[in-house]
Amino acid sequence: MAEERGQFSSRVGFILAAAGSAVGLGNMVAFPVMASKSGGAAFLIIYLFCIAFVCYPVMMAEIAMGRRSQRNPVGAFTDISGGIRRWRLVGMLGILTPFMIAVFYTVITVWLVVYIKEIALGGLETLAGDAAFGELVARPSLFLYLAFLLAIVFFVLLGGVKGGIERLARILMPTLAVMLLLLTVFVLTLDNAIAGITYYLIPDFSKVTPTVVNNAVSHAFFSLSLGMGILITYGSYFSKKDSIPHSTRMVAIADTSVAFFAGLLILPAIFAFDPNTTTDDLSTSSVSLIFSFLPKIFLSMQGAVGYVGASVVAAIFFTLVFFAALTSLVSIIEIPISCWIDEWKFSRKKAVVFQAAALTVFAIPATMSLGMSDFFTNFTSYGGISKSFFDVVSDVFYSTILPLVGFTVCIFAAYRWKMSGLSSELSVGDEGFEGSLLQKYMNFSLGTIIPVVLLVVFVSTLFQIYI
Ligand code: PFF
Repeated sequence: MAEERGQFSSRVGFILAAAGSAVGLGNMVAFPVMASKSGGAAFLIIYLFCIAFVCYPVMMAEIAMGRRSQRNPVGAFTDISGGIRRWRLVGMLGILTPFMIAVFYTVITVWLVVYIKEIALGGLETLAGDAAFGELVARPSLFLYLAFLLAIVFFVLLGGVKGGIERLARILMPTLAVMLLLLTVFVLTLDNAIAGITYYLIPDFSKVTPTVVNNAVSHAFFSLSLGMGILITYGSYFSKKDSIPHSTRMVAIADTSVAFFAGLLILPAIFAFDPNTTTDDLSTSSVSLIFSFLPKIFLSMQGAVGYVGASVVAAIFFTLVFFAALTSLVSIIEIPISCWIDEWKFSRKKAVVFQAAALTVFAIPATMSLGMSDFFTNFTSYGGISKSFFDVVSDVFYSTILPLVGFTVCIFAAYRWKMSGLSSELSVGDEGFEGSLLQKYMNFSLGTIIPVVLLVVFVSTLFQIYI
């Protein structure tokens, strides 16, 4: 028997769930580092510009596609194109991408669980040691934590849209906001915190290069969970009574605010640790920043608040990042699940069990990619660097394919669905959209400058990673 399609209970439910997806590791770690390396407030201005003029229209197009078709990405591209095969194939890319991103995001989230446990047991000092991360990610006991994490994630997903995804976001997102604010206020009271704020907020336009602009677009795109099929699927759970432009704007504001506050937390913390920090000291990889660098920073706070105090601050921070990662993980795993339900007519229970098995099959080699198995650790090499299985999944699906999927969404919406179709969907629940400046901007940009920008990002990523 076909189950009734899930729906968010209200506009707020949608906004919290979509913000839960958008707020993730990208906000908590990648953004602060990128901003401080790329000219501080100068980067912030470019980033805001990218959010408003490149990402916001794509976000609305994705959500509108979902709401119109009432389907997952495969169903949405197929249905709106009138069953054209090549668009169905594009839709399949919109399922494969989140499926694979979930694989390596799961592994990172497992590390967060292990860090929280270690800190709770008094091990902050051990984690701050130079070899700690390398040793910890090669432990076979990670599988135990993997099983624990997957049990939580799939239990939530079994609860469906309202009882699972939305309920989780309703609890975790406000908690996350409060924890972030409290930690930020605490860090700002540390000596030298002001040096971090200055570093973060004084614009330095001399650092702005074409690569910085490229990074700003691709990071904004990734931070809003675009190109992953998430917003198409969440759009299919969005009420016809509510305004897409308005709710989308709220999600973008929430996501950007969290990124901004994460900067106000992390940069002052780093400068309190060492007032002479320079951009070269800031790690380029989010993973090494969170797992290797930040434990040292938290440990250094023991001078001010004692070892227990420093451990509490570290535990709150890692729990905060864990909440952000968990809501993102749940959102991305829902995409293949919605596909199995819509396209294969699985019940939610059967789809969840199937997806849990499929994800486990890929998550095991990804977990073994950091030293546990030589085969998966030295899986292949390209761009002159040896790459693990984990790296390949991250490079291909996270860094490369997202802008490509975004490009296809723009081309599809502008030339197959046509702007008139998109506009009429965006007018549902929003009487003011027709004839607005926003509509005019979308009509002009979605088939022209935005796909060109995304294509440039895609090609330059190819050069950066593979050549
Ligand atoms: N917007 C998320 C972030 O900033 O981390 C991107 C994301 C990644 C969403 C992975 C979901 C996910 F599984």
